[in-house]
Amino acid sequence: MSDLITPVIGLIGGSGLYDIPGLQDREWKRVESPWGEASDEILHGRLGDVQVRFLPRHGRGHPTPPSALNYRANIDAMKRAGCTELLSLSAVGSLNEELPPGHFVIVDQFIDRTFAREKSFFETGCVGHVSVAHPVCSRLGDALEASAVSLGLPVTRGGTYLVMEGPQFSTKAESLLYRQWGCSVIGMTNMPEAKLAREAELCYATVAMVTDFDCWHPDHEAVTVDQVVKVLFSNADKARALVADVVPRLGAKRGPCEAGCDRALEYALITAPEK
Ligand code: ADE
Repeated sequence: MSDLITPVIGLIGGSGLYDIPGLQDREWKRVESPWGEASDEILHGRLGDVQVRFLPRHGRGHPTPPSALNYRANIDAMKRAGCTELLSLSAVGSLNEELPPGHFVIVDQFIDRTFAREKSFFETGCVGHVSVAHPVCSRLGDALEASAVSLGLPVTRGGTYLVMEGPQFSTKAESLLYRQWGCSVIGMTNMPEAKLAREAELCYATVAMVTDFDCWHPDHEAVTVDQVVKVLFSNADKARALVADVVPRLGAKRGPCEAGCDRALEYALITAPEK
């Protein structure tokens, strides 16, 4: 049984998570990456016996907008900090009447409409094409769903997250179009995060926390930052409870990921190895 690993749970998310209840041995540590500066230092700690790492996606105090995030450095720094699993907690707008503000969606698909971000660790010299047909680790999704259900949180398993470039919110025509495409939620941060996690062979899943109805809904005002922040703060307790419940579920020693995330590069490289 020598190939069992001890999971280290990485969390990427917003300000409400700095004080994860019960997090012990807390220490903020700078993790160097050849890809540049991550958004911030990484909070190291443990919940019970399980090692946890937390990266504030936009930096403490939220100084960095979605398009300016160094996604490669963030994912690489989390991998160097020992993470084997990445849970992304993200504020999103809803594109579906049945997913109101306060609802959590464990998404399983993405449509990537971003265009101004570095999206791959593979550059000239080493060509690789990983599969992102199933961009979310179903094992992590199962654990998140089990936690959310056991806590009685309003949750939906499955859904498509449209990732837009921003920083402006969508026009009404765009919002209606994304609804026609069958998207569930919209946000600005989960791509290329999810693609890079796959290239880094890290298991990845997203909890999309609905804060607004974007601008398509005839009975609701178009989204504002004020609204997003208000709902986010009122969701923070739920998000912290979810994290505190899911970390122990994922912490037990495990073999290779059933979904294969940790072997994503096995058949992905085209460039011949150097002789
Ligand atoms: N984040 C939260 N709400 C959003 C919305 N409506 N559009 C894009 N990103 C969001």
